[in-house]
Amino acid sequence: MKFNTTKSGIKFSELGLGAMNLPQDALDSQYILDQAVDLGVTYIDTADLYQKGQNEKNIGHFIKNSKKRDQITLASKVGNRFNMLNDDVVWDPSKEHITRSIHESLKRLETDYLDLYMLHGGMIEDNKDETIETFEQLKKEGLIRAYGISSIRPNVIDYYLKHSNIDTIMMQFNLIDNRPTDLIESIQSKDVQILARGPLMKGLLTEKYDEILEKKFESGILGLTQEELRQSLDASTTIAPLQQAVYQYLTSYPVASIVNGASSVEQLQVNVKAYDTSIKHPIDKQKLNKIVESFKNLHYEDHLV
Ligand SMILES: NC(=O)c1ccc[n+]([C@@H]2O[C@H](COP(=O)([O-])OP(=O)(O)OC[C@H]3O[C@@H](n4cnc5c(N)ncnc54)[C@H](OP(=O)(O)O)[C@@H]3O)[C@@H](O)[C@H]2O)c1
Repeated sequence: MKFNTTKSGIKFSELGLGAMNLPQDALDSQYILDQAVDLGVTYIDTADLYQKGQNEKNIGHFIKNSKKRDQITLASKVGNRFNMLNDDVVWDPSKEHITRSIHESLKRLETDYLDLYMLHGGMIEDNKDETIETFEQLKKEGLIRAYGISSIRPNVIDYYLKHSNIDTIMMQFNLIDNRPTDLIESIQSKDVQILARGPLMKGLLTEKYDEILEKKFESGILGLTQEELRQSLDASTTIAPLQQAVYQYLTSYPVASIVNGASSVEQLQVNVKAYDTSIKHPIDKQKLNKIVESFKNLHYEDHLV
C-alpha cells in the first residue's frame, strides 16, 4: 500500500475505505474494518449522517475493541442536522452546529480526535467564513488535525481554496465522472489533495459491469444513457482490466486516497487485489490513455459562479 501525506501531515492510505455502505450490523462491519486495516487500508471515511450516527458507532466499537486507533486515519463529516424521529435533514454549517456535532461524533467514534473533519456539502450562500473559523478553532483545540470539504460545486470549491486552509476536497471522481479534471490545476496550486469518492461508480467500473449496468443504471447517469455507458465499458474492457485502470487513472492526479466503498469482505479483497496489481503491474500509458478516451469528457455545468 502506498501512502500520501497532505499539507498538515495527515497520512492517507492510497486505497481508503468508505464506510457509508458497511453493513448496519456492528459485528459484520467490524469484521470488514478489521480486514481493511490488516490489508493496509487504513483511511476510514464516515459521516455523522450515515445511518444517523450508527455508522460512527460501529466504527467506534471497532476502535475500542481492536485498539487500532493509532493505526488508522479517521475522517468524519458534518453539516447535516438530522432528526432521530423522522427523515428530515436540514443543512446547517453554523458554528453552533459544528461545535456541538464534533463532540457527538467523537463520543460515537470512541476517540478524542479526528484526523480529518469535512464539511458535508455546502452552498455558495452559506456563511463560509464562520464555518472556516470554526474548523480552525477545532484544530487549535486539538479535536481535529485537519479539515476539508466534500463538494462538487466549483464556486464553493473555489471559495474554500482561496479563503481557507483545507487539506482535502472530497469529490466523486472516476473514469465516467471525470469532471474533477477541470479543477485539478487550481486544487494543485493550493497544495490541496483530492479524496476520490465513488471510484467504482457503485460497482459499475468492475468486471461485473454488465450485471451492474442492468441492475443499477437502467436510466444511465450524468446525461449518459445506459447504451452509451455500455459502449464505453465494452471498449475499455477489451484493452485492460477496468478496475485496475480506474485506480491508475486516479493516482495519476493529486489524489490522497481512493475512497472505495465495500459492503462485504469479498469486495474489499477484490478491490485491494486490483489496487495492488495496479502498482505491481501497471497498465502501459498508451493503453491507459485509450481507456480514458473511451469515456466521454464531462464538465461541471452548475454552480460555476
Ligand atoms: N457527499 C459525500 O461526501 C459522499 C457521497 C457519497 C459517498 N461518500 C463517501 O465515499 C465512499 C465511497 O462511495 P461509494 O460507496 O459511492 O463508492 P464506490 O466504491 O464506487 O461504490 C461502493 C459500492 O460499489 C459496490 N462494490 C464495491 N466493490 C465492488 C466490487 N469489487 N465488485 C462489485 N461491486 C463492488 C458495492 O455495492 P453493493 O453494496 O450494492 O454491492 C459498494 O457498496 C462512501 O462510503 C462514503 O464514505 C461521500
